[in-house]
Amino acid sequence: MDIQQIFRNNKKWIAEKLRLNKEFFKQLSEDQNPDVLYIGCCDSRVPAEEIMGVHPGQIFVHRNIANMVPNTDLSTMSVINYAILHLQVKHIVVCGHYDCGGIKAAMQPADLGILNPWLRNIRDVYRLHKEELSLLEDDKEKYDRLVELNVQEQCVNVIKTAEAQNAIQAKQVTVHGWVFNLKTGQLVDLNIDFDNILKDIMDIYRLS
Ligand code: CO
Repeated sequence: MDIQQIFRNNKKWIAEKLRLNKEFFKQLSEDQNPDVLYIGCCDSRVPAEEIMGVHPGQIFVHRNIANMVPNTDLSTMSVINYAILHLQVKHIVVCGHYDCGGIKAAMQPADLGILNPWLRNIRDVYRLHKEELSLLEDDKEKYDRLVELNVQEQCVNVIKTAEAQNAIQAKQVTVHGWVFNLKTGQLVDLNIDFDNILKDIMDIYRLS
């Protein structure tokens, strides 16, 4: 890729936005009021706004390798805090994707240096759901299911935070687990049954 092309693209984008709305950048610079916090994977093939068909200002986005919500990660925790307390988002989405390199790496025995502690969080998801995953004989099925179970566990990690617990109790926020299918372009709601998942564990994680 010619890096200068990006600046030519940017000029075209500005012209197109102004053609449709002369006030576009004036309005954009005034404030943001997104309803959704999107936590997704860094993967270059999953462009968050594009697959959702949303405009600048509509979605607050956080991306990292394999859409993780580790409770010691200051970046993710700050994003959740800011999105709930200051932006007052109504929805928090954790969106994974099939064919995720981070998930695949965590399924293989390999010393990947600084990536080890990050991927360890995914290995822990595997361990938590080992029983279910061991029933799947096909590696591809296992891989796809771990992508989904990881989304589920990261949603639970969101719900473990004090900010999310208070916002859910106040009916300000709903948490959603989605997965993106690279082969079809489809965004799928996993319809995670949080009531069922949380009923046995919330006593442990409740903060107030
Ligand atoms: Co990925």
